[in-house]
Formats: sequence, C-alpha cells, structure tokens
Amino acid sequence: MRVLITAGPTREHLDPVRYLTNGSSGKMGYALATAAVRRGWEVDLVSGPVELNAPAGVDLVQVISAQDMFEACASRFGACDVFVAVAAVADFRPKYRADQKQTKLETDSTLELEPTVDILKTLGGRRRNGQLIVGFAAETHDLDAKAPAKLIAKGCDWIVANDVSGRDVGMESDANAVTLWNRGGRAGSKGPAPKHDIAEWLWNQLMDDQL
Ligand code: CTP
Repeated sequence: MRVLITAGPTREHLDPVRYLTNGSSGKMGYALATAAVRRGWEVDLVSGPVELNAPAGVDLVQVISAQDMFEACASRFGACDVFVAVAAVADFRPKYRADQKQTKLETDSTLELEPTVDILKTLGGRRRNGQLIVGFAAETHDLDAKAPAKLIAKGCDWIVANDVSGRDVGMESDANAVTLWNRGGRAGSKGPAPKHDIAEWLWNQLMDDQL
C-alpha cells in the first residue's frame, strides 16, 4: 500500500519576505502519515512550511507554494493507492511577485490575486481504478451541508470535516473533532480527541470500507 498525503499550509509570496497563507500546523497530516507508517505502508508526505519533524519512515517532500505542492503531488499521484489531501492550500496567490522586497511606497494597497490550482480536484480527475481519494473540509459553520457538497465537487470518495471555529480543536491544536462522509452520506464522527487517535480511527474507517 502506498499513500500520498498533503499537509500544512502553503505560502504565496508577494515578494521574498511577504506572503499570503492559511493557518495550519500540519499536525493532522503528519499524524496520518505516522499512523500509515505504523501500518507498514509506504508514505509520501508533501508538506508546506510547518514546525514539525519528519515522521520516521516517511518520504517527506517540503514545498512552499500551492504550485510546488501540486507539482510534487502530480509526479507521485500515479503510484499511490490512497491520496489524502489534508493541506490548507491557499486558494489565491498574488498575480505579481516582486524579486526584491517592496517598500511601503512601492506597495499598492489593493492586491491583485489569481486562483491557485485545486490540487485535490485536479488529481481526483486523474484517478485510475482502485485509487481512493480523501479530502478534508475545514469549516467554521454549516459543516453538514458543506462537507458532502465538497465531496461531490472535488470527486472524493471520502471527506473529513472538521470544525475550526473554536480554539480547543482544529487548526493549531493537538486535538481535533471530525465527521466523516462518503458518497452514501454521513459515515461517523470522532472527537474531540488527540490528532494521533483521530488518525488511527480514520485509517480504520477508510480501510474497513475497502475490504
Ligand atoms: N484543496 C486543494 N487545493 C486547493 C484548495 C483545497 O487540494 N487549492 C483541498 C484541501 O487540501 C482539502 C479540500 O481541498 O482537502 C478542501 O479544502 P477547503 O480549503 O476546505 O476548501 P476550498 O476548496 O478551498 O473551498 P472554500 O475555501 O471555498 O471553502
């Protein structure tokens, strides 16, 4: 079994020191990678900038931007059995990137943006028979409507919805509370619990369904 996991945020630079990003510690993706290695699987972990050590036994690819993350995943996607997109990918990037740090006077107060590539949707569209595609949906509200809609829109088999409205679980925390959806509807929920426990639970749910 070979799994490909994205984790962490991406950074979309305006100039060498300034960037747009999302809040994301990378902990959930790294926990899934660690739990996958424990099961004896081969793991490619494509990670944006985070303050975490590489989990032992994982092939870690460090990237900065959404485009870097897409390219790293695209070249590994064909070989994976399961693709899990946990990363908090920036949806937009500055249309122009300066090579040198811009001064206040050179900086326009209106930023022109352009969309980044949707990694999950694009690679989901390239899936071959037998590949399992899993997305995450971090939401502050309307999870039960947004999660199944995202599952369909992105061509996933499963989507893991997590509530990031509070401070105790989600983005930067060591804990998470998730609901799991597949094409048949709501398939279960877990937490609040440590992200490592959520990771073990998720792999059990996904693999049970594969058998
Ligand atoms: N995702 C991705 N590439 C992007 C944006 C999102 O691969 N450019 C993936 C995320 O890793 C996650 C899923 O898509 O698995 C949903 O991400 P989310 O940020 O919740 O949704 P968006 O598509 O960004 O939609 P919106 O921000 O409008 O809710």
